[in-house]
Amino acid sequence: MFLIWGHEDRLLKKKPLPVDQIRRFLEPGPIVLVSSAYRGSRNIMTMGWHMVMEFQPSLIGCYIWSANHSFELIRKSRECVINIPEVKLALKVVDIGNTSGRDIDKFEEFGLTAERGRQVKAPLIAECFANYECRLVDSRLIRKYSLFVLEVVAARVAVAPKFPATIHYRGDGVFMLSGKNTARYRPRFRPEML
Ligand SMILES: Cc1cc2nc3c(=O)[nH]c(=O)nc-3n(C[C@H](O)[C@H](O)[C@H](O)COP(=O)(O)O)c2cc1C
Repeated sequence: MFLIWGHEDRLLKKKPLPVDQIRRFLEPGPIVLVSSAYRGSRNIMTMGWHMVMEFQPSLIGCYIWSANHSFELIRKSRECVINIPEVKLALKVVDIGNTSGRDIDKFEEFGLTAERGRQVKAPLIAECFANYECRLVDSRLIRKYSLFVLEVVAARVAVAPKFPATIHYRGDGVFMLSGKNTARYRPRFRPEML
């Protein structure tokens, strides 16, 4: 154990953290469901490792493991949909992440409704409160990092609630549920940073 010097009355007791565990405190959120389709085969996978890369164009970087069935569906079709589920879908989210589309049709297995997209052929998941239709715009980092750079080309979101209860993965089988919002710090933002 180490004592890290902060303010006198706020000394934090710390312990070494294995570098392969640092994601526990950095994990992005929310957990999403990625739907895809290629040559008559459709699928859904659960994904936690995504990041916003740019606003205009609207780019998202996603880590998709090469062993996943979704990997080839998305790489070959160059499309997918990022669907954001609410906490009420958490059981299905976990089960979707623990099964493979090689063996089952996850839309049927988990009773989810496939909807037609506006811009892509991959199906949207109707039960999710937000659906982002994406095109693969940069595949250069796939081979080295399994990183898909996607552009969101169409997006839809439920009209209410404004802040749906999302689920965020902490690793080790533990989820964090989205909680309270505050606008207390809003006045300190510069308008262009909002
Ligand atoms: C909470 C959770 C988060 C996950 N995050 C990712 C992820 O970011 N990238 C990834 O490749 N797999 C992730 N997985 C694993 C895939 O969802 C899992 O391998 C899935 O079964 C792949 O399905 P597929 O073979 O049908 O494509 C996650 C699973 C869970 C339960």
